[in-house]
Amino acid sequence: MFDSFGRKINYVRVSVTDRCDLRCKYCMPTSNPFFFKKKDILSLNELQLISDQLILLGIKKIRITGGEPLIRKDIIQYFKFLSLKLSQNKIDEVLLTSNGTQLKKYAKNLADFGIKRINVSLDSLIEQKFNFITNGGNLSNVIDGIFLAKSNNIKIKINTVLLKNFNEDEIISLMKWCGKNNFTLSFIEVMPVGEISYSRSKQYLPVTKAKEIIKKEFKLEKSELKSSGPSKYYFCKKLNLNVGFISPISEHFCLTCNRIRITSNGFIYPCLGDNNSVDLKPFLRSGKSKELFNTLESVIYKKPERHFFNINEKSYIKKRYMNTTGG
Ligand code: 5AD
Ligand code: SF4
Repeated sequence: MFDSFGRKINYVRVSVTDRCDLRCKYCMPTSNPFFFKKKDILSLNELQLISDQLILLGIKKIRITGGEPLIRKDIIQYFKFLSLKLSQNKIDEVLLTSNGTQLKKYAKNLADFGIKRINVSLDSLIEQKFNFITNGGNLSNVIDGIFLAKSNNIKIKINTVLLKNFNEDEIISLMKWCGKNNFTLSFIEVMPVGEISYSRSKQYLPVTKAKEIIKKEFKLEKSELKSSGPSKYYFCKKLNLNVGFISPISEHFCLTCNRIRITSNGFIYPCLGDNNSVDLKPFLRSGKSKELFNTLESVIYKKPERHFFNINEKSYIKKRYMNTTGG
């Protein structure tokens, strides 16, 4: 369907859990992170009910995200449900955003259920730095999982959040590694979503800086790769690599936004950068599917025109963290 600004909305990101087995320092507070109450988390059946209504509204692409989606116990059943929708041609694509920690366990299952592409978040290729930024993650476990997914014919995209004084020195090595392994790579600006103890402006490294660093080593050409997402792709011939840049802060891309988000506690967020959201649980839990449909339709129609992130102000999104909406 179309929103009031004429944008075609055909893509949903469903966060199936706000829990995560990592604690990335820019994502949620390291001490006392807030999690939804168990009773508020949607059941598998409720996830399926929402998916069905969204499909009726014209959603064609579903991305499963978290927290870490693969730590949800019944996640494979949800993929099974979605793979049925794929086989019935009701949707075009099911995608996954993951931190990679569980890929060793699930790569084969995911391939069997029609997952062709996975985005893996990875901010460093150095064991100690990875462990530091994720507050305890094990890099080699993630790398093994990534290669297992690759060997099951799943295409890998690496998402790297640009962090000042942390990983600008790894921009080139990440590119070389992705080129060598035939992965796509995107660099993302850190967003002021959720207040953390560290100042966001101290973390912020604009994509223009990343491009400057790259241009000292490699030429970036126009890429054939078109994504429906916010990443602007370039091609690095020397590495045979498509490298994308996602710039929510320095250059917003709201004009072409085609997506909405569902959180694991049953809220719809028409925009990641906006506090507006609507609780869908009352309709889900009383079995009112017509009301559910109408609410989804009206929220999508009223999707805001754009976000107004400002990295220099105290974030205006204070109490919501990325682990609730996913990447
Ligand atoms: N800004 C940008 N990206 C973030 N992510 C988590 N928090 C932020 C933030 N504040 C990213 C993760 C992962 C995805 C779930 O969102 O690195 O790629
Ligand atoms: Fe977990 Fe992703 Fe947040 Fe890291 S960024 S803590 S992996 S949800």
